[in-house]
Order: sequence, then structure tokens, then C-alpha cells
Amino acid sequence: MTDSTRLDGQVAIVTGAAQGIGRGIALVLAEAGAKIVIGDLQDAGGTVDSVRAAGGEAVSTVMDTSRPEDDKALVQLALSEYGRLDILVNNAAIDEPKGNVWDLPDEEWRRTIDVNLSGVFYCSKAALKPMLEAGRGCIINMSSQSAKSGRAGVSPAYNATKAGVRGLTIAFSAQVAQYGVRVNAIMPALILSRDFGWSPEEVMDRQLGYPMGAGTPRDIGEAVRYLASPAARWVTGTALQITGGQQRG
Ligand SMILES: NC(=O)c1ccc[n+]([C@@H]2O[C@H](COP(=O)([O-])OP(=O)(O)OC[C@H]3O[C@@H](n4cnc5c(N)ncnc54)[C@H](O)[C@@H]3O)[C@@H](O)[C@H]2O)c1
Repeated sequence: MTDSTRLDGQVAIVTGAAQGIGRGIALVLAEAGAKIVIGDLQDAGGTVDSVRAAGGEAVSTVMDTSRPEDDKALVQLALSEYGRLDILVNNAAIDEPKGNVWDLPDEEWRRTIDVNLSGVFYCSKAALKPMLEAGRGCIINMSSQSAKSGRAGVSPAYNATKAGVRGLTIAFSAQVAQYGVRVNAIMPALILSRDFGWSPEEVMDRQLGYPMGAGTPRDIGEAVRYLASPAARWVTGTALQITGGQQRG
């Protein structure tokens, strides 16, 4: 029986894959047969090594998604290294800077918008050029359940950008569907992707209301694999809520 979620021969860019959810996505897509191109502010050599150790192919570059020239160079890296681009996963983001609206520094607001929202726009714009020329491709944007909620002490910029990412996903999908390109989002709830610096009490508090507990980077990777694959060929403009049963908003 054929597996319609295989990605053999395809090339995927994953931003922010040096660690956390992005790393989980890169590993799952590589297992599905895709060649991986990583762009991250940090060196992603550890993820590249893990993909290669499992028999896959990957390269990485240090870049900043909020810089349009870096995004163009990332797409060029995929094309020069592997000759095509099929999948873009806009995963890189600044995670929940601290601060209520009245004391959030303006610079913090601007940087969050630049990375979490403009970065998705610039990288998608760069990737769409070869995708539209080829008449195929897909983009998967990392939104969040935070798009529908707020929390005292956590920057409202994060919530606003994640709602914006959802909006970009709908708008992009409407413009490119007729050219064979699909655009979807994922809205994860709590993924314990790293040490968030929370006290044990806060970790417990954050997990309240999760019937299945917190998720893992692999849980998101598997969802990305589905959306990127032929199994999702009629799926565009949507947002998968991957929440372990937790619901908000
Ligand atoms: N962890 C969660 O509970 C959770 C829940 C919902 C959504 N998300 C979203 O999932 C994605 C990944 O989250 P995570 O928890 O793995 O985050 P993380 O902070 O562990 O990893 C983010 C990665 O992105 C990179 N990065 C940050 N800014 C960048 C930039 N300007 N250019 C290039 N790379 C950059 C970082 O270096 C890092 O490797 C984010 O979009 C986040 O908003 C996370």
C-alpha cells in the first residue's frame, strides 16, 4: 500500500529549526523523504547532524527571517543545493516576550512584529517565486492558540502576530490556490519544546485544562508532514488546531 504522506524527492525549508518545534519538524519531514534546508539565527548544525545520522539530507545557514535579503538567500540556498523548492515551513518566532501592554517597550513590540509577522511575509514572498514558476508548492505557517487568547504578563505582541499569521495564511491561500500552491497554518497549544524558565508550579498551571497533557515537537512535525503531503492536496487556507484537547477562545 502506498503512503500518501511520503515526501520523497521534495525539498523543504524549515525556519527556526536549530531547536524546539522547528527541529522536530525537520526530523519528521526528513524521515518522510524530504531534503531539508534550515535557516536560523543560531547555528543549526546539531539538527543537520541528526538528519544525516538518520540517513537524510540537510543543510543550514545562519540568517534572520526579518531581513528580506536573508530570506531570498535562504531560498537560493535550497535551489542551488537541491535544484527545487516544494515546502516552506515558517516556524521561526520570538516566543512570548514578557510585559503587559502598558510597560512593553516599543522596541520589543517592533521586533516581535518584524520577526513573527514580517518574517513570514518576506520568506513566503521569496519562496513563492520558484513555487509559482513550477506551478506547485506549499507553505505552512506556525500560528498559535495564543492568537485567540491573552495572558497577564505576556507580551500582547506575540498574540497579535500569531493572529496576523492566521490572517496571512488565509490571504495568501486565496491568491495562490489557482497556481497550484497551498498555504495552511498550525495553531499549537502548549508544546514543551525547551526549558521556558517556568517554576514547577507554573508548568503545572500552564498544563491545566490539557486532557492529554502538553505536546511534543514531533506532534507538530507529524501535522506539518500531513499538510505538506499529497494526502492534503485539497487542503488550503485552513489552520489545524493541535492542542491535546485543550480549547480556548
Ligand atoms: N512551544 C510552544 O508551546 C508553542 C505553542 C504555539 C506555537 N508555537 C510556535 O512554534 C514555533 C516554534 O516554537 P518553539 O517553542 O520551538 O520556539 P524556540 O524559541 O524554541 O525556537 C525558535 C527558533 O527560531 C529561531 N529564531 C528566532 N528568531 C529568528 C529569526 N529572526 N530568524 C531566524 N531564526 C529565528 C531561534 O533561534 C530558535 O532556534 C514558533 O513560531 C512559536 O511561536 C510554540
